[in-house]
Amino acid sequence: MTEAVATANANVALAKYWGKRDESLNLPYTGSISITLAGLTTTARVRFGAARVIDRIIMSGREAEGLEAQRVSAFLDLVRQRAGEEPRAEVEVASNFPVAAGLASSASTFAALALAASRALGLSLSPLELSVLARRGSGSAARSIFGGYVEWQPGQASDGSDSYAVQLAPAQHWPLGIVAAITDPGRKRVGSREGMAQGLKRSPFFPAWLQSHDADLEAIRQAVLARDLATAGLVAESNCLKMHAVSLASSPPLLYWNPTTVAVIQRVHQLREEGTQAYFTIDAGPQVKIICPLAERDAVAAAIRRVPGVHDVLLSEPGDEARVVESE
Ligand code: DP6
Repeated sequence: MTEAVATANANVALAKYWGKRDESLNLPYTGSISITLAGLTTTARVRFGAARVIDRIIMSGREAEGLEAQRVSAFLDLVRQRAGEEPRAEVEVASNFPVAAGLASSASTFAALALAASRALGLSLSPLELSVLARRGSGSAARSIFGGYVEWQPGQASDGSDSYAVQLAPAQHWPLGIVAAITDPGRKRVGSREGMAQGLKRSPFFPAWLQSHDADLEAIRQAVLARDLATAGLVAESNCLKMHAVSLASSPPLLYWNPTTVAVIQRVHQLREEGTQAYFTIDAGPQVKIICPLAERDAVAAAIRRVPGVHDVLLSEPGDEARVVESE
């Protein structure tokens, strides 16, 4: 029996990944840039060699079934193929934040699974190899392998071998605060996987999204390196709104927001008018993530908590890379 436990943090993209050039390999059309989020952590325990005929997968305390279980088993198959071994596994995955509600739990889940499963089968993969592997589980997981500020390079190879993330800057480079406003604690109805597939096939705005994305990416990359919050924040807001515009214009339309999402956006704009550097971004769900100087995080969180309809706020800052916490 071989076992390993690994942790990985969620991440929030300032320049988004939205649209795949290859659905089975999770190859993106564009690059993306994210911040790895301290304290929003998924732990994966993987034990191989159990006398089983199928994998046993526990997600958030309950046995995974159907597509969810298939997705994890198919991911474990990749690791088994690489190791040249066939044992079934017992897997336990748990996150300390709301899963599947637009808080990037698939990113931290597959980054933690890539590390735990490869280590449990005796593979010692480099961060780059882990990023390629994690990407196969969920595209954004490629970024959660690394800490701090991270860029996923889309690559060009049809086998995906050059589509992996790299660290742009470590967490200490720029002490930003991140506030996640939970406007709906339930599971989201349309995940990012289906949402981006729908946008790509059925939104007239998808070509425009692709056309303007590289300029956003370059602006955000430079702003991160220069610690220029006004530029990073404004371009991230615009990039997020363009991604949501792709969904809104698709047929049938896809609206991830609720009224509280909009109220939080408006409160962020108001905070800026009052002199606080706060900027929002939203992924494939109704929650709003706000970036601000770390020193202003508590004040921003207090203001957002008072917006009617906000259930909770989570506080974060740039966090560390995925790591093995136990292995035998
Ligand atoms: C809106 O990585 O969840 O959060 O590759 O299909 O698993 P799959 O998609 P996923 O998509 C994340 C989309 C996003 C933007 C981002 O994180 O860049």
